[in-house]
This record gives sequence, C-alpha cells and structure tokens, in this order.
Amino acid sequence: MGLLEGKVGLVTGASSGLGRATSNLASEEGSKIVLVDINDEAGEAAAEEIRKAGGHAIYVHADVTKPAEVEAMVAATVSEFGRLDWASNNAVGGGGAMKLLHETDNAVWSSTMDVCLDGVFNCMKAEVPAMMEAGGGSIVNIITASVFKGEAMLGAYIAAKGGVDALTRTGAAEYAGCGIRVNSVAPGGFETPQIANYFRKFPEHKEKTINQHAMRRIGQPREVAEPVIWLASDRASFVTGICIPCEGGINVNSHLL
Ligand SMILES: NC(=O)c1ccc[n+]([C@@H]2O[C@H](COP(=O)([O-])OP(=O)(O)OC[C@H]3O[C@@H](n4cnc5c(N)ncnc54)[C@H](O)[C@@H]3O)[C@@H](O)[C@H]2O)c1
Repeated sequence: MGLLEGKVGLVTGASSGLGRATSNLASEEGSKIVLVDINDEAGEAAAEEIRKAGGHAIYVHADVTKPAEVEAMVAATVSEFGRLDWASNNAVGGGGAMKLLHETDNAVWSSTMDVCLDGVFNCMKAEVPAMMEAGGGSIVNIITASVFKGEAMLGAYIAAKGGVDALTRTGAAEYAGCGIRVNSVAPGGFETPQIANYFRKFPEHKEKTINQHAMRRIGQPREVAEPVIWLASDRASFVTGICIPCEGGINVNSHLL
C-alpha cells in the first residue's frame, strides 16, 4: 500500500520541476492529485501523464497571488475528489534579479513577495478550512536551504522564503488542535528549469553552486519529492512545525576538502 493511499492532495507550481516530481510520486503512492499552475499547457500535460500511468489527476489553473483563484482551486479539488487531505505550496516566481539589497528594484521585491510569501499565505488560508472539514490534514511548504544562512544577491527571494518558514511554524501552532500538521522542506540546488535558467543567465555560477554541496552535485527532483510525500502522509503523524532540509550538505562546511 502506498504512503498516500486514498488521500487527496494538491500541489502548486506543479507544471514543472519539483512540483511536477512531487505530483508524480504522490500519484505513485496512491494519492488523487490536483496539479495547480499558471502554465496551463505544461500543467495539462503533467496531469495527462499521471492519468496515462493509471493515476487520478486533474489540472486546475490558479495564480497563487489571486485569492479568488486560490479559493476556486480548493473548491475544484473538493468538487472533483470529495476532500482535501494534503497540500504542497511550492509555486515560485516573480523574482529573477541577482542584485545587492540596495540595488534591488522595488517592483522585483514586491512581485517576489507576492508569489513566494503572499501566495503561500493565500494557499494556507484556503486549504485550512477544507482540511478542517476533512477532519485534519497536512501542509508542506517549500522554502530553500539558503534561509538558514542567507544568500548574497537573492535578498527578496530569501526574505520571502524566511517568511514562509515563520508562517509554517505559526500554522503548526495554530492548527495542531484541528489535526492539521504544517511543515516545510528546504531544498538545496535541484536540477529543474528554475536552476537551468539561472545557469544559462549566470554560467559562471554553475560550478560554484555544485561545489557548495558537500555531495558535489545538485539533486534530482524526485529526491525532494520523497520528504514532501513523507510529511504529507500519516507516517509523519507526530511531526509538525519542522523543516526538513534536503540539500546534499549545503549547510555543512566542506570547503577544505
Ligand atoms: N530548483 C531548485 O534548485 C530549488 C532550490 C531551492 C528551493 N526551490 C524551491 O522549490 C520550489 C519549486 O522550484 P522549481 O525549481 O521546481 O521551480 P520551477 O520554476 O521549475 O517551477 C515553478 C512553477 O511555479 C509556477 N508558478 C509561477 N508563478 C506562479 C503563480 N503565481 N501561481 C501559480 N503557479 C506559479 C510556474 O509556472 C512553474 O511551473 C520553489 O518553491 C523553489 O523556490 C527550488
């Protein structure tokens, strides 16, 4: 029996990268799954891929910065599959500028906060009532391993993710009594379109990024899906308010080797 047998979940940012890998693994582990994104073509294709493999999946368009669309995403989940048991708030966007703080454009700061922090708030706000209705649930927010020590040139993104870390712990405190667990996973570098774009823009950063990891490689998307699925599942029934780093040793010091 799969880790998520009989459960219903949703993943934001599911058209690509880590969200897509999480959706695939969730389906393999027995969950019905709603893939959410703004990239409709890729999202429909990802849902179709899961259905072809024998899973139960639909794609729903929702921009996480728009509360009405986020509420509709949860309503569509309940309407299609009857309930919401777990969710991974994973969408990322809005940023992109590699700038020092004092050079960061306010519009870039705001758009990054909109997607990466307000987007998660919008999602949690809509997901919690549906999970209360289901008698409990599990929320897994995706942050970044860089929140633990900061990261030069990525101020808006890191600040937004730090906010999500705080929101995660706050949600855990507020909803433990309703049977809703709230945790996060903090990825290091992973081979996804996000990081591929980054390496295209800044090729000189590729080797430096790989060497930051004690394992001297970046991760495969499925390697981050594993802790997400575990946290979503009942196997993690006594786990709330924590962050699981999944980062190939980016936060241990291996530079003398
Ligand atoms: N890839 C990495 O190395 C890495 C490292 C650390 C943290 N992360 C985190 O992991 C998560 C997934 O990253 P990824 O690399 O798979 O990214 P990705 O760029 O491959 O996918 C992000 C998805 O989010 C969608 N999206 C963008 N704006 C949206 C919005 N407003 N509403 C709904 N969907 C929206 C995009 O269309 C895309 O499909 C993100 O939260 C990211 O910050 C990734």
